[in-house]
Amino acid sequence: MENRTIVTLPGDGIGRVVLDNTLRVLEAAGFKANYVEGDIGWEFWKTEGEALPQRTIDLLAEHKIGLFGAITSKPKDEAATELASELQNKGLIYSSPIVNLRQHFGLDICVRPCKTYVGNPLNFIRRGADGGIEEPEVDVVIFRQNTEGLYGGVEWSNPSEKVYDAFMTHPKFKKNFGDVPKEEVSISTRIFSKKATERILRAAFKHAKDYGYKSVTLCEKPNVIRETSGMMYKMALKMQQEEYPTIELWNTNIDAQMMWLTKNPENYGVIVAGNMFGDIISDGFAGLIGGLGFACSAQMSADGIAVFEPTHGSAPKYADYDISIVNPIAMIESACMMLDYIDENSIAGKIRKAVAEVISEGKVRTYDMMKMSGRQDVIEKGAASTEEMADAIIAKL
Ligand code: NAI
Ligand code: MG
Repeated sequence: MENRTIVTLPGDGIGRVVLDNTLRVLEAAGFKANYVEGDIGWEFWKTEGEALPQRTIDLLAEHKIGLFGAITSKPKDEAATELASELQNKGLIYSSPIVNLRQHFGLDICVRPCKTYVGNPLNFIRRGADGGIEEPEVDVVIFRQNTEGLYGGVEWSNPSEKVYDAFMTHPKFKKNFGDVPKEEVSISTRIFSKKATERILRAAFKHAKDYGYKSVTLCEKPNVIRETSGMMYKMALKMQQEEYPTIELWNTNIDAQMMWLTKNPENYGVIVAGNMFGDIISDGFAGLIGGLGFACSAQMSADGIAVFEPTHGSAPKYADYDISIVNPIAMIESACMMLDYIDENSIAGKIRKAVAEVISEGKVRTYDMMKMSGRQDVIEKGAASTEEMADAIIAKL
């Protein structure tokens, strides 16, 4: 394991502070690796006109594993004005480097676990039938298709004649939109391929089997979105019957699932969905277990490239604080997913246990865990800094 090299991608804003503190935790847990830093984010957009430089892509292609903090994205026009003067008016167009990274490497499988930590004051609670307070234990792992569907980027406003004419061959388009002027039409497609759908389904079933979950829930909307959700459901059914007969397949609609989110979240195990519904449902479940300070993720390709990252962004308003206040646990948990991926399960287990102990003791809590609004003075008011939280976890190791 001494020879393993990991590409660190701190990115922007709080990305660096959560990543640096995570590396301290990894070291304290006995994980040994070489680290090389990859350039990514706003700085490189401004100075080079490319938020994801080729040298970073090369690094990841070589070493295969990335630990990513967060990046800042801004709307196209704002991005253009922030370019260095010599890069202005050269037709450079900003696009999100993390989305580009996913697409470049085909990081099509996104895994987002949402598991309750006992003693986390941010845990979801509800009233039970007897009037008492219940705190359901959530243990859900969301498998989100990460490259296709509504986020696949195949879209048009005022489409070309060719595109418009092609759509006009569809009777529903002709009937419902046929008299809308072409210039007033915007189209975003939802394309699912069998190959990618099969991969995300199989990853979900395999995870359920390997980790002892009794069910896989397909969370789509096959009754309305018949072609894409419908195909996914049929494939899931076939896979369950032929390959995973011991695992139950549940089928929920995304809208109903959001309603059941707070009613019975403890009933679900593995959930699998297309890109957008997976995004929605994973944020929903993350809210039940503490929100952005706790939401971790992994993204993996078919050919062995994997990037691990917290779900949160760069939180620019906290980036320049003298003492960082943000919660590093989402990044630390993402690093644990990396450890699982490279078969360092016992180190991952040690870190998770240490995190669980710190949370259940309740002595060291970042501002989000104290339900404060994030300001520099939260430290004086008793919130732990990013570094103190990492120190507390390290002390448990
Ligand atoms: P954000 O996730 O950066 O922050 C939203 C709010 O969540 C923060 O104000 C803070 O209250 C809280 N928060 C975030 N991380 C936290 C942590 N570790 N501990 C405690 N509280 C935390 O999302 P926002 O403000 O919408 O976007 C800021 C920038 O980040 C934008 O430029 C956006 O494009 C980018 N972004 C990048 C992502 C990525 O790198 N994967 C994902 C989401 C947003
Ligand atoms: Mg999201």
